[in-house]
Amino acid sequence: DYIFSKTAQRPKIAIVCGSGLGGITGILKDPELISYKDIPNFPISSVPGHAGKLVFGKLGNKDVVCMSGRVHAYEGQPLWKVTFAMRVFDSMGIKVVILTNAAGGVGEKTKEGDLIILKDHINLPGLCGFNPLVGLNDERFGARFQETTVCYDKELRDIALKMAKDCKMDFVCEGVYIYQVGPTFESPSEVKFLKLIGGDMVGMSTVPEVVVARHRGMRCLGISLITNKCIDVFDSNKKPNHEEVLELSKQRSCELQKLISKIVDAISLE
Ligand code: 6GU
Repeated sequence: DYIFSKTAQRPKIAIVCGSGLGGITGILKDPELISYKDIPNFPISSVPGHAGKLVFGKLGNKDVVCMSGRVHAYEGQPLWKVTFAMRVFDSMGIKVVILTNAAGGVGEKTKEGDLIILKDHINLPGLCGFNPLVGLNDERFGARFQETTVCYDKELRDIALKMAKDCKMDFVCEGVYIYQVGPTFESPSEVKFLKLIGGDMVGMSTVPEVVVARHRGMRCLGISLITNKCIDVFDSNKKPNHEEVLELSKQRSCELQKLISKIVDAISLE
């Protein structure tokens, strides 16, 4: 009610911007901003590279709302707060959620600068008791036992791959994302493990939000920007850091914006 009292726009598509990937808010037409701090109960991020605002506006031929800034479990927030925006989006009539993130590349398939469409995920903390749907379930909102067979909508993934091909973006493909809580980056042995269990990239976001979005029946598309390769050798003098994450995001954010614009144009909301 608060959000609808501040804007007359009624988008059906939401875009969640990952670390350093908020640039898309700058290309919206007729933008209207709402600060998270003004929205009752809305959680606020403490991480550099994550602004705290909803931006409504037109992207190509469609109305969208962008989340510039998100909260993460490693900030000490419970998962129900981390995923709060998904429940707000569903209540607003959002049908499609596009989530971007910065991720580390695991294995041979990914290299720095690649954009990887999420084909599936491994909710590693979820398998061990840290799942956003733990707790009493309100049946009005979704099933007690949520299936996660197809979290990333096949039609949206096919659109994303087709648009990338049309734009000759040869650095786009599909892969499996592993969620780890953070804030530590992985040890070399953990990277070997992630590779072994079938991950192509690893990051500290997206999966809790997707689980809740699926619980509410929203269609999801996930896109990872590979900002660095995970280090799986012992005693390496290379170390992952947040600055390199932000630097690569800056370099690739234009292409990601272009890709998302094309995808949004091509989405059918019927
Ligand atoms: Cl979770 N790990 C690594 N190694 N690199 C990253 C990342 C995680 N998130 C962004 N870049």
